[in-house]
Parts: sequence; structure tokens; C-alpha cells
Amino acid sequence: MEVAKAIKERRSIRKFTDQKVTGDEINQLLEAARLAPSGLNAQPWRFKVIQNRDDIFWLSREATKGQRWVGGANVVFICCADLSRYLEDAGASVRLLRDSGMLPPEMLAGIEEYVQKTKDASSELLRYAAAANCSIAIAQMMLQAVELGLGTCWIGMYEEDAIKKRFDIPEHMAIIALLAAGRPGEAPGPRPRKALEEIVF
Ligand SMILES: Cc1cc2nc3c(=O)[nH]c(=O)nc-3n(C[C@H](O)[C@H](O)[C@H](O)COP(=O)(O)O)c2cc1C
Repeated sequence: MEVAKAIKERRSIRKFTDQKVTGDEINQLLEAARLAPSGLNAQPWRFKVIQNRDDIFWLSREATKGQRWVGGANVVFICCADLSRYLEDAGASVRLLRDSGMLPPEMLAGIEEYVQKTKDASSELLRYAAAANCSIAIAQMMLQAVELGLGTCWIGMYEEDAIKKRFDIPEHMAIIALLAAGRPGEAPGPRPRKALEEIVF
């Protein structure tokens, strides 16, 4: 499938059939995430794959502030950012780029400064940066899903602490989003978008 077609055809899907998403399909979605770009190649994304029906039902109650449609999903990805490894991995990546000569020398000073800034950042800012990276990975999963004939919906409304507790997610993992997926049981038309003139200035 052409990327442009996948971008055009993707919709948020909130109704799913009972037909299972296969292990191979789940792996293809995770592979799409794994290949995403990230600042300093830090790759902060981590995923918990929830397939158990009781767990998915639980997620469709208070954990997502009453989004009952989530209960029909076949799989829910808990998309996290590993904040404990983020700086370390970014630093290692810079060293690799520098030592391998892949980085043009004139970029080195700027990158060192960027890394230092990241090191000094508050945990809130760090979470924000990690979230930007994870969002790219999740977007790639959503597009890969279109090619596989799967539907997805990003869930941004959730109770982070309750979900962490239920699924034993450690403190240093920030939950960035949940991604519900399954075989589409609906075919909604395109949702409104702003005109090009409204978004280019
Ligand atoms: C950051 C983010 C948070 C979202 N949170 C939710 C959510 O909690 N529940 C939901 O049903 N849809 C959620 N959505 C889906 C949006 O409502 C949807 O993308 C938007 O209405 C456009 O529709 P489309 O995806 O079909 O083009 C979220 C999307 C994004 C990107």
C-alpha cells in the first residue's frame, strides 16, 4: 500500500469485530514503532501488549474515564517512554555518532549543547521530549495497521497511576498513550480537517 493511501484512509476506529489480531500482525505493528526516528536516536518507546479480555474490559471503565468502546478492542498497546534510560541512550548515541565520524564536526558543538540542555531539563520537560518521540512511533503503528486492514484509535484520556498499578509498570515508565486495535467493525468517513490556508502561515 502507498503511504499516501494509508494516510488518507486511516480513521480512528472505535468499533471492532471479534476476529483476532494475530501475533504476526502485532509484531508488524511493533516493528513499525521500532523503526521510528527519534531525537539522538534515543528510542525511548516501550510497549505493554494487552490481549487478555478481563484486562481490556478493565481498561474500558475508570481507567479510560469510562470509554466503554475500548472494551471491544482486540488488543490495547500501553505506549510508554522509559525516562530512566532516555538520557543515557541519547548520550551513548551521540558518542557513537561522534566516534564513528558519522556526525559532521561542525554539528558536534551544537549537539553537545543540546544533550547538556536535556540533562538539565526538569522531569516534566524530559517527559515532554520523550512523548514527542513516542508519538512518532505510535503514528507509524497506526499507518501500518491500515495496510494490515486493522483499525486503531489513540486513547489520550486515561488514569496513568491506576494503569501502572494494575499492569506493574515501573515508576520510571511514563505512559504516553494507549492504542486500541482490532478488526474494524465500522467504516467512518473522514473527520473534518482545517484547510491548508489555516495551517500554513
Ligand atoms: C493525542 C490524541 C488523543 C486522543 N484521545 C482520544 C481518546 O481518549 N478517545 C477517543 O475516542 N479518541 C481519541 N483520539 C482520537 C481523536 O478523537 C481523532 O484522531 C480525531 O477526532 C480525528 O479523527 P480521525 O482519527 O478519525 O481522523 C485521540 C487522538 C490523539 C492524537
